[in-house]
Amino acid sequence: MITRLSADEQVALRASGAILGRVMNELVALVRPGIRLLDLEIAADRLITEAGAVSAFKGYKGYVNVLCTSVNEEVVHCPPSARLLQDGDIISIDNGVVYQGMYSDCAVTVPVGTISTAAQRLLQVTRDALYVEAIKMLKPGNTIGDIGQAVQRFVERAGLSVVRSLVGHGIGHHLHEEPSIPNYGTAGRGAKLVPGMAIAIEPMVNIGGAEVEFMDDGWRVVTADGSLSAHFEHTFLITNDGYELITKL
Ligand code: MF3
Ligand code: CO
Repeated sequence: MITRLSADEQVALRASGAILGRVMNELVALVRPGIRLLDLEIAADRLITEAGAVSAFKGYKGYVNVLCTSVNEEVVHCPPSARLLQDGDIISIDNGVVYQGMYSDCAVTVPVGTISTAAQRLLQVTRDALYVEAIKMLKPGNTIGDIGQAVQRFVERAGLSVVRSLVGHGIGHHLHEEPSIPNYGTAGRGAKLVPGMAIAIEPMVNIGGAEVEFMDDGWRVVTADGSLSAHFEHTFLITNDGYELITKL
C-alpha cells in the first residue's frame, strides 16, 4: 500500500528532514584524512540525540549502528569501524532519523582529501543522476519507471553502472515502505507518483560492473569487481505540482 501523508504528517516529515540535513552537514564537515569511521558514528549519535530525534537505523533488523559508512569499493550498509580515512578515499555516509513519528533518510558520498579524476567523475555523475535526472521526474502522474529510466540512462551514457540489487523506497511512518524505487527501469511503468507520497531515491553507481557481493556479516555490500562505488540519497515529498526536498543539506 502506498501511503499519502496528511498535512500534519507532512509538517512532521519536514521537521525530521531538517534535523537530518543539519546532522549530515556537520558529519560531512568532519570528513578528513585521519578521522576514524567510529568518530563519525559517535558524532552522529550525539547530534541526533541533541536534536531530540532518534536514529532510524539503530535497531533496524538488528543493525547496531546509527550510520552506514561505506568506503571506496564498499557500496552501502557498512557498519562504522575503527578504520581511519585516508587521503584519496571516498566515503558514503548514510543516515536516517525519526522525529514526531516521521522517518527521513539521506546519504552523500564525499571525497577524503584529494581524490582521483575518475573518483571525482563518479561522484559527479552519481550526484547528478539524483539531483538533476531523478528530480526532473518528480511530479504527480509520472511513474516509478520514469525515475528509474532517467537515472539508468544518464549513468550508463557516462559509461558507469547502476547497482540493481538494491533500490530506493517509500518512506514516512517506516524507514522502508512501498513502493520500491529501482535506479533502472522503463518510462511509464510502475506506480504513479501522487501528492502526499514520500520517497527516498538512492542511486548507487559503480565505476566497473553493476554486480555487488553481500558479505557474511549480513550487512556489508561491496562491488564484485572491487571498483569504486558512490551513493547519494534524499527523501522527497511529492506535491501537487512537483516535489519538495525533505533532506536539505
Ligand atoms: N539508507 C539505507 C537504506 O535505505 C538504510 C540502511 S538500513 C540499516 O537501505 F539498517 F542498514 F541501517
Ligand atoms: Co534508504
